[in-house]
Amino acid sequence: SGSGLPLMVQRTLSKQVSLLECVGKGRYGEVWRGLWCADSVAVKIFFSRDEASWRRETEIYSTVLLRHTNILAYIGSDMTSRNSCTQLWLITHFHPLGSLYEHLARTTLTRHQMMAICLSTVNGLLHLHTDIHGTQYTHETSQGKPAIAHRDIKSKNILVKVNGECCIADFGLAMTAAHVAHAQPGARQGTKRYMSPELLDQTMNIHCLEAYRKCDIYALALVLWEVLARVPPAREARPPFHAQAPADPSFELMRKIVCVDGARPDLPDTFTHPTMAGMASLIRECWHQNSSVRLPALRIKKTLLKLAANDNS
Ligand code: ADE
Repeated sequence: SGSGLPLMVQRTLSKQVSLLECVGKGRYGEVWRGLWCADSVAVKIFFSRDEASWRRETEIYSTVLLRHTNILAYIGSDMTSRNSCTQLWLITHFHPLGSLYEHLARTTLTRHQMMAICLSTVNGLLHLHTDIHGTQYTHETSQGKPAIAHRDIKSKNILVKVNGECCIADFGLAMTAAHVAHAQPGARQGTKRYMSPELLDQTMNIHCLEAYRKCDIYALALVLWEVLARVPPAREARPPFHAQAPADPSFELMRKIVCVDGARPDLPDTFTHPTMAGMASLIRECWHQNSSVRLPALRIKKTLLKLAANDNS
């Protein structure tokens, strides 16, 4: 389109949706539960200053072959003008249990529930990270799916489905190899609390997609730790680095904690159950200071499948 709008934007979609209740507020804007053709949908309403996030998220959701049970299902995007004010909407499936962050605050988990959450989240990240080649030699229109780095993995950006599995949401910062090629040093970044050591000490190659995948794996390890802590004997739900970092910590403070002190959330080595001990050692590998030690999503998935298969009690 001449205006440079993403292809999938439907200017009439918002007219068919009625907003019912606000279910979330943040720096990005708001999330509402709405009704669309008798179905509950989630409507993310972006602040107009954050049009870049809306545009990127719309673009990423429009990627062919992105649909997956562990990726939030996209319905459409809409840009409308209301009293000469631009409104940016992103409409997806609605999940009444809300984010993993809210879910963990509400309930403790059995090992089985913990495993369903961890496996499905890793499965979603694996799909995102995977480059699916098109059938290159058969037809010029056949397409694959590019590898995508999320860049803002955290428990607030993961949703819990009623079947106990999770799906990954919030693609406002996501990047493919095409975006990474034009990455700028001062560009928008993810949540400071979940930033990897190489993001914090600014030693990573910002033009390398694999480097961003490793950052996702570090953040995933922090999420897995949050989930593990809710299995009996459960502690209260806490964000990673809750003792060292207040709400909305500075970049400098996080750099001191993660890079200088080399601190990580504590994992009791008193786990007697083999599944919990296996989870702990997996998490340690995935938040390693040296990003090349961190496991790829496929390896994490295989390890989790093995731990789940051996857990008979
Ligand atoms: N909070 C943010 N996104 C949501 C969604 N799709 N469903 C339910 N709660 C949400």
